[in-house]
Amino acid sequence: MGCNIIQLNTFFIASDLVFLGDWWSDTRILLYIDREEFDKYYGKEHAYCVMNHTYEVDWLIGWMTCNRIRLLGNCKAYAKKVIQYVPVLGWAWKFSEFVFLERSFNKDKEVINRQITELSEHPDPIWLLLFPEGTRFTPKKHEASLEFAQKHNLPELKHHLLPRTRGFIASLPSMKGKVPAVYDIELAFN
Ligand SMILES: *[C@@H]1O[C@H](CO)[C@@H](O)[C@H](O)[C@H]1NC(C)=O
Repeated sequence: MGCNIIQLNTFFIASDLVFLGDWWSDTRILLYIDREEFDKYYGKEHAYCVMNHTYEVDWLIGWMTCNRIRLLGNCKAYAKKVIQYVPVLGWAWKFSEFVFLERSFNKDKEVINRQITELSEHPDPIWLLLFPEGTRFTPKKHEASLEFAQKHNLPELKHHLLPRTRGFIASLPSMKGKVPAVYDIELAFN
């Protein structure tokens, strides 16, 4: 098993939270995935996950899902730079190679390049999670997003904010030939 200390470390911190999510909140996760593909590919290759985002706990659901497919120590995400200073959680994410962004594209480009290259060269499968909307969905932000779309002749999305494309596009060259899957994830709470 190609498991290093850092992954184990995230695994333990994350697994406590996942335990709380699973057991204390009694959250049940239903995954709608093609069965054949699930058996063949999920957790067995690098993947880039894009997911919509409304609630503060969305990432926890992501982790709980990673736990289901036995990938928890290898789930990475993009996060806002300030989060790396949050005690325990932020430090753990920092050490487990999360991609921290500052929203200044010139600085971020370099970080993305370096880290995505490293991540895509991991010997065992990793999942990289991105919230392409860049922020949490609210009706007000949705309105602004629709206005922007009209003005710039972009698709008017009924249920999502217009994705921010720069981070995604900047990530692609470093993944080329190494990350075979992009998962388009729609997360819904009952
Ligand atoms: C994702 O989008 C669907 C609508 O298409 C919505 O029902 C759901 O609440 C959204 N989930 C998150 C976490 O944003």
